Amino acid sequence: MSIENLKKVKLGNYPTPLEKMENMTKLMGKGELFIKRDDSTGPAFGGNKTRKLEYLMQEALDTGCTAVMTIGGTQTNHGRTTVGAAVKLGLKPILVLMGADTGYLSGNLNLDAMMGADIYFVSNPAKIMDVMKEVTAKYEAQGDKVYNIPGGGSNPLGAVGYVMSVKEIMQQMEEQQIKIDHVICTVGSMGTYGGMLLGAKYFNAPFDVIAVPVAPEQREKKIADVVNFVNEVSKTYGMGVEITADDVKIAWGPDDAPYSGEAYNKPDPLTREAIITLAKNEGIMLDPTYTGKAFRGFLDIVKQGEFVKDGESAMFLHTGGAMALWTKEHLDDMQEQLRANCTTTQI
Ligand SMILES: Cc1ncc(COP(=O)(O)O)c(C=O)c1O
Repeated sequence: MSIENLKKVKLGNYPTPLEKMENMTKLMGKGELFIKRDDSTGPAFGGNKTRKLEYLMQEALDTGCTAVMTIGGTQTNHGRTTVGAAVKLGLKPILVLMGADTGYLSGNLNLDAMMGADIYFVSNPAKIMDVMKEVTAKYEAQGDKVYNIPGGGSNPLGAVGYVMSVKEIMQQMEEQQIKIDHVICTVGSMGTYGGMLLGAKYFNAPFDVIAVPVAPEQREKKIADVVNFVNEVSKTYGMGVEITADDVKIAWGPDDAPYSGEAYNKPDPLTREAIITLAKNEGIMLDPTYTGKAFRGFLDIVKQGEFVKDGESAMFLHTGGAMALWTKEHLDDMQEQLRANCTTTQI
């Protein structure tokens, strides 16, 4: 079946807004800067996982599943969106999370709990596959059929959501009569970037897609992983697109201060500065783990001109996740910069 005719359940609100960032455009003084608000898809605050989940959940329903299980870190946005999608569709939500139960539910965990997820914390990452098998067996013994979604929803079926998002953007460009030369997004488990890269080739988009990594990566390996992933999705759906390493554009940032920061989920002051810059100019909130790092990369590559030449326009894909701002660790880390960014008066 053609990729464009694959069935999906409706979980999100589309098209997500594609807006000009008027103040950021003025501030940067280069070409026009746009933002695509995939942070506003819904359900459960949405984000980039919703587009993937629409296809994955359709398969869960088509195969008669009654429960949905996925994995991630303890603050997984993908997990929270999966739980939201599952409850909306009447499926039992199960999360297998890599990390310890700290005894305190904040950020995404707070929301997972509110939606009634069954949460399994796994302290030893080496045990994760065994735990998933055990958990599946437990539910199946109770009569459930469990649909297993990979981390980040990033398999070929999930990636279809982002292949198709390219068509949505091209339609909005036409309706709004705007030009976009570059799209910038994060790359984690690859479904988003890989899907968009493939979609841009498949639909002959007038823009290229540039990724900003969220964790220090072995560069050659990451590029090879993206190539393999994109070609696998293309082959799965008979799309006739084959990419090479030359098609993969990843902005790593300066060697002494990479956009990824020192580690996954560890934003540095430059990332927090980027979060504050967008908040104070456009009233839009980013997250400390993914989009804050990517937006720092976005601003830098617009400024230094390696990927974005003078006069060219660029669109930032907001993939959601802002609820991580309310985890204790990130609130603690941000206090100094927040205080410096506002005035407070005790009367
Ligand atoms: C807010 C947010 N942005 C971006 C990403 C990365 O997307 P992908 O895993 O499709 O590369 C994630 C992944 O969890 C995310 O939660």
